[in-house]
Amino acid sequence: MIGPDYTLLDSQLRALLGDEPDALAAASNFVAHLYYAMEDVNWLGIYVLRDDELVLGPFQGKPACVRIELGRGVCGTAAATKDTQRVDDVHAFPGHIACDADSRSELVVPLIVNSQLIGVLDIDSPSLARFSDADLCGVERLCATFCRLQSNRECFI
Ligand code: SME
Repeated sequence: MIGPDYTLLDSQLRALLGDEPDALAAASNFVAHLYYAMEDVNWLGIYVLRDDELVLGPFQGKPACVRIELGRGVCGTAAATKDTQRVDDVHAFPGHIACDADSRSELVVPLIVNSQLIGVLDIDSPSLARFSDADLCGVERLCATFCRLQSNRECFI
C-alpha cells in the first residue's frame, strides 16, 4: 500500500491548526485530519493523561473504553514507556484492550509537550501489520508538530 504524503499532511496540519488558541478544537481537527488521510484505519484518537490515567479524548471511530491505566494495553504501555508502540498483531500483545473487535494492528505515539507526557495518539487498523516504517515516522512527525503547536496554547488538552 502506498501511504499518504506525510510532508503534505504536516503542512496541512499547520494550516489547519494555525494559531487557534483552543486546545480541544485543535486536537479534534488533528484527529479528523489524520483519520481521513489514512486508509484501512478503523479507529484513530487521543487518550489524554489525567491524574496518572489515560482518559478518552477526541477520536474518530466506534465508541471506545474511557479510562486506561498507565502500563496497561498498547496505549498504557506507550504512555508508561514514552516510546512509540507498533503492534503488528494485537492478539499477540499481552493485555491488549479490545475496544473494537475489528482492530488487528495498532500504532500508538506518545504526545510530549515541553518534556511532559500529555497523552497518546492511538491508531487502529483491521489489517494485520498495517503500519509501515514510513507510517511510523510520518505519524511521529505529525505528532511532533501537534505537540509544538500545543506548547503555544494556554492549557493542554
Ligand atoms: N487498543 C488500545 C485500547 C484503546 S482502543 O483501541 C480505542 C490498547 O490496547 O491500548
